Amino acid sequence: LAEDLPPNRLLGFQGIAASTADEVTITPGYRAEVLISWGEPLVDGAPAFDPQGNNSAADQEKQFGDNNDGMSFFPIDDNHGVMAINNEYVNEQYLFAHGGTKATSLEEVRKSQAAHGVSIVAVKRVGDGQRWEVERPSRYNRRITANSDMQFSGPAAGHPLLQTAADPSGRKVLGTFGNCANGKTPWGTYLTCEENFDTYFGTHQADYPTTPEQKRYTLKANEPERNWPDYDERFDVAKNPNEFNRHGWIVEIDPLDPTSTPIKHTALGRFKHENAAVTVAKDGRLVVYMGDDERGEHIYKYVSKGVVDIANPANNRTLLDEGTLYVAQFDGDEAGTPLKGKGRWIALEFGKNGLTPENGFRDEAEVLIFARKAAQQVGATKMDRPEWIAVNPHDGRAYCTLTNNSKRGEEGMPLNAANPRPNNVYGQIIRWDEGGDATADAFAWDIYALCGNPIAHPEGVNRGTPNITADNTFNSPDGLGFDRAGRLWILTDGKYSNKGDYVGQGNNQMLVGDPVSGEIRRFMVGPKSCELTGITFTPDYRTMFVNVQHPGEEGDSHFPNNSPRPRSSVLMITREDGGVIGA
Ligand code: FEO
Ligand code: CA
Ligand code: CA
Ligand code: CA
Repeated sequence: LAEDLPPNRLLGFQGIAASTADEVTITPGYRAEVLISWGEPLVDGAPAFDPQGNNSAADQEKQFGDNNDGMSFFPIDDNHGVMAINNEYVNEQYLFAHGGTKATSLEEVRKSQAAHGVSIVAVKRVGDGQRWEVERPSRYNRRITANSDMQFSGPAAGHPLLQTAADPSGRKVLGTFGNCANGKTPWGTYLTCEENFDTYFGTHQADYPTTPEQKRYTLKANEPERNWPDYDERFDVAKNPNEFNRHGWIVEIDPLDPTSTPIKHTALGRFKHENAAVTVAKDGRLVVYMGDDERGEHIYKYVSKGVVDIANPANNRTLLDEGTLYVAQFDGDEAGTPLKGKGRWIALEFGKNGLTPENGFRDEAEVLIFARKAAQQVGATKMDRPEWIAVNPHDGRAYCTLTNNSKRGEEGMPLNAANPRPNNVYGQIIRWDEGGDATADAFAWDIYALCGNPIAHPEGVNRGTPNITADNTFNSPDGLGFDRAGRLWILTDGKYSNKGDYVGQGNNQMLVGDPVSGEIRRFMVGPKSCELTGITFTPDYRTMFVNVQHPGEEGDSHFPNNSPRPRSSVLMITREDGGVIGA
């Protein structure tokens, strides 16, 4: 930890109580204000938001997207910046005027597709303080949707499994959706991560023979969660089976070049990507840690072949295309010490570690397109839903939220050292130490927080580690980020019933952890039935942005500002005295 910031001074704010109110509650001395909400005009010519849901698809293409999740702030100068903000999915009951959960026309599917993707939002400082506002008009303001032009790069680009009737080249693809969290490269581009892409695909063909590879990515061909295939054949897996393989990737966007084409980087593997925690190893190679958020899925690491060259950005073009993808195995230590152990990274390289034609892999592209299968083949550890990963800037240790796992302990998902609780309702935060070398093959790990609830469970494994108390209890850690000083910001996406296992936990919330002492304090609580997610700062760390996602998904919220339909929104957090957030 930074020598000038002893641990007892790291958390400089007062922890607050849990809340079930339909509003944002924040620690004293701080302000949380809405920067932008779903549907606000963004691009030139955009119409006003219609709170009754009557905006058209064409309107939505020019408005801020829905369900904002991961995001990054890109400074231009002291008073101007650009934010890249994921729009993960939609709440159909609020998107459509009819209030139902299914699209009833191609126009409604197009509106849904237009509300997905990424919003690029220019912002400017208000006066000389710490508050910012959206800049309109701005040449940077842009919408990237489920129908935007993109290209593939890396080892799988052009592969027959990525070719479709509309794109025989296998190199051009339309759109991104299910954009959960994010990453930022050292050369100033944005990484957006495609997560629950499977829920958009299906078919009415009753006898459709779902392949083992489609099942491995949980395709439910006859009961898709969203009904895009009813009106858009691109999403009908019987008609366009390979379109399914063209999603589930990490996409690079240059937010400062409005004419740039986003790139899907196949070298980073295809799975349900949560975020991309980017760091530079001591030898200059780029390292990206990534979680696959599904029960029993894995944690991955990508190491570039070349080194980062900040002075010559053009030299960085291939860093996300040429490198090695690894997957993690977590083992206990010899003594069987609880909550710690050793681990190793196993390379997912064609021809090695059993990734051979005999085991169903014909080339490196198949290893990447079916990364889940490859990870299983090499013996990766089944984790409790890996969500965000964040790297401590002071010691290089990586932290990952394992949000929960209702199936842990069931057949096919036995307990293991790193995932030790049956029916894991609270989740845990695991961390690993690679000895200061992010390219290392081996690591030591421990559990930073085994989340729990001392109110519901005064004793036993569901009480949690000692840093969990009746005052800070929470479930389902998800968003995660370090600030410059080394404070660990923890955002939750869990149950908000405030009953039973969850009694006393209130709505979803944001907390701050001290990585050294382990202390955790509650900083902010969101409105009803939202999750808090997406965290980014201005370069001076005096303004923080956090997302309120899907408020009122249970129909019980009017956030923000007594809105007739609740709206996902970006919050801007500042201190009344203008100080550094959290200090
Ligand atoms: Fe979109 Fe795993 O959260
Ligand atoms: Ca989310
Ligand atoms: Ca998440
Ligand atoms: Ca989650």
